[in-house]
Amino acid sequence: MSIGASRYHEHVTESITITDNRSGESVEIPIDQGGVDSKPWNQLMPGVWFNDPSFGTTAAADSTVTELDGVNGILRYRGYPIEQLAERSSYLEVAYLLVNGELPTAEEFETWRYEITHHTFIHENVRKKFLEGFHHDAHPMGILVATIAALSTFYPEAKDIFDPEVRRKQIVRLIAKMPTLAAGAYRFSRGMPFVYPDNSLDFSANFLSMLFKTAEPRYDANPVLAKALDVLFILHADHEQNCSTTAMRTVGSAHADPYVATAAAASALYGPRHGGANEAVLHMLERIGSIDNVPAFIDRVKAGEERLMGFGHRVYKNFDPRATIIKNTAYEVFDVTGKSPLLDIALKLEEVALADNYFVDRKLYPNVDFYSGLIYQAMGFPMDMFTVLFAIPRVAGWLSHYTELLEQDQRIIRPRQIYVGAGERDYVPFSIR
Ligand code: CMC
Repeated sequence: MSIGASRYHEHVTESITITDNRSGESVEIPIDQGGVDSKPWNQLMPGVWFNDPSFGTTAAADSTVTELDGVNGILRYRGYPIEQLAERSSYLEVAYLLVNGELPTAEEFETWRYEITHHTFIHENVRKKFLEGFHHDAHPMGILVATIAALSTFYPEAKDIFDPEVRRKQIVRLIAKMPTLAAGAYRFSRGMPFVYPDNSLDFSANFLSMLFKTAEPRYDANPVLAKALDVLFILHADHEQNCSTTAMRTVGSAHADPYVATAAAASALYGPRHGGANEAVLHMLERIGSIDNVPAFIDRVKAGEERLMGFGHRVYKNFDPRATIIKNTAYEVFDVTGKSPLLDIALKLEEVALADNYFVDRKLYPNVDFYSGLIYQAMGFPMDMFTVLFAIPRVAGWLSHYTELLEQDQRIIRPRQIYVGAGERDYVPFSIR
């Protein structure tokens, strides 16, 4: 007996067949755009779950936002190659593209730029009570996560998530306020006064002004550094179904408002396996200390005693295209700031790893984080700001996925489990445990 699969079009010719050997029943399921629908499996074998805890083989979304081909090292936002966007676009234009699906006309961009620029201020209570309420040595990422969540209470209308206009307003606010919150967290942790946004500056230059301005009436960032930061923002703006985006979609599927969903996504990004890796790369380079120590370090990695941070990726089994762009950006930044002494160690590590069968066989290549930390450090950012710099542009990607999820009216995300715990047993009192 065969159970039919439904959602597919005439053009689908490839399929798989699953047979339940307990009953002899089979189901043929079409392969549609590289995906196989789970529903016929479920109908064939109710109560038997596909065991994929880290979603290595599970497509959790039909998405139009970002195309990532990890085998061939391809990354495109809404169809546009990342290389072209990094070279010719700006972060604000890319944010528009991600959120709206198309590049803006000149007029649409001007409206967008104006809207973002005029939503950069934060409520004074967010500054006075939240940003300045933390302990003096609070990690800026912890401050950022908490203040993003707190914004939900300042904009209660954000709960009206199915009104496209209301939603758009929160998207503008979040993209605009991220640099202000991030810079505020940094200034507070350094005991420096808060710097208000300067609406005459563009997105990246304004962020640098809020971070580094001291007594001067206007802070004009070095244009090469502002441009480099903008390129890094473009490269980090989205990366399809990564850990933090999955957190965003999971929380969004419960119909939570965009602020708390973004705070959840930012929390996921905080982890060293995800957005915290560039900080871990610098710690690693500092520990290695000199290029002479590189071969011994690589031996320890191969023995499983260390992990080569900034290498490897769940999806890329080839060069991460962002890493290639970042390496070029690093040289432009070092021309201005002077070379980081850790660069030589990084270059040697890359050279040794790429020539070693351990890394070649496992298809481990440098990822986006391998060089980004070196750039941030050269630009004067302390290490605890690195993940914050990742979070600022990723908000555009998170919100694009959030919008897509709501517009597709996806069911609440609720995986199954394979229960492997104790069978039923009776409660026993303390006296006989
Ligand atoms: N150093 C040494 N060995 C590694 C590394 C590494 N960085 N990454 C993977 N491997 C080995 C791993 O030990 C395993 O070997 P074996 O088959 O002998 O057990 C094999 O390669 C497959 O690794 P995996 O752990 O199954 O890979 P994963 O997909 O679960 O992990 C990763 C992906 C990114 C968490 C991992 O590569 C890693 O921890 N890298 C270092 C941290 C890092 O750079 N993270 C930034 C990721 S890019 C930023 C982003 O997009 O969020």
